[in-house]
Amino acid sequence: MNTQFFPVCPVCKAPLQPFGGALQCENRHSFDLAKEGYVNLLTGQHKSGERTGDSRAMARARHAFLERGYFDALAREVARQAAALTGDAPTVLDICCGEGHYAQCVAAAKPCRLFGFDLSKEMVRLAAKRKIPNALFFVANLAAIPLPDASVDFAMHLFAPFHAPEFARVLKKDGALISVIPGRDHLFSLKAAVYDTPYRNDEQAPDGGRLRLLERTRVKKTIRLQSAEDIRALFSMTPYAYRTSQSDLTKLDRLETLETEIDFVLLRYGF
Ligand SMILES: C[S@@+](CC[C@H](N)C(=O)[O-])C[C@H]1O[C@@H](n2cnc3c(N)ncnc32)[C@H](O)[C@@H]1O
Ligand SMILES: [Zn+2]
Repeated sequence: MNTQFFPVCPVCKAPLQPFGGALQCENRHSFDLAKEGYVNLLTGQHKSGERTGDSRAMARARHAFLERGYFDALAREVARQAAALTGDAPTVLDICCGEGHYAQCVAAAKPCRLFGFDLSKEMVRLAAKRKIPNALFFVANLAAIPLPDASVDFAMHLFAPFHAPEFARVLKKDGALISVIPGRDHLFSLKAAVYDTPYRNDEQAPDGGRLRLLERTRVKKTIRLQSAEDIRALFSMTPYAYRTSQSDLTKLDRLETLETEIDFVLLRYGF
């Protein structure tokens, strides 16, 4: 691992360096490396936050689903853009990295120093278990990213809350941020299997603040979900899962396979 560049201390902002089985700053704030190799950089009220972010069950369901390759067309496009938009040995940041599926695809396409973080310890643990070379995963909140100003060449951000000031702060002046949002037709047939009047997504791009929206790219295709388990897993990954009644959910259990659109919009932001 490149020892030149680590996160900053979330308490005092001094650089962290490896020290024994921990990362430590010059003011002796110390953060233990877990056995999987990740580090928890949450402080204060969030520190003991076992229940922050997505749960263990959600993390595992997402992991199992993504490993089946249904969203690989998106992963390939994110990796292509990462390779095309960066020079040699870039610093890449996966914001709200989840279980690390997309980070691993990018690292395979482009040798890089990779950071990934998420509020969910369970997600970060799964990401760290991938043992991606030259990567460090940490638990952190996107409202206070423990990285120096202007330190990231390529930031990726998929299906997660947006925080324009922090994203602009960590990105280099010539860096790129790719944020992925669901397209108009994303999972329309899946929604139609559950709701009488399914709606289409609005494709509203988040306000980038100091970052300008420079480009939109669409990845769209039809996938065939191969089992009731995959159908349930995909539905549980969507925001609709929280606001769907039990009786509507049982409609899914009658399906063995389902063809549905996937539709993603990659938004490229920069200065
Ligand atoms: C829909 S998941 C997407 C995960 C991953 N990017 C992917 O596409 O597989 C949203 C993720 O955002 C994380 N998250 C939500 N709020 C967060 C915050 N304030 N700081 C960091 N991560 C957050 C959740 O824990 C979850 O892993
Ligand atoms: Zn410190």
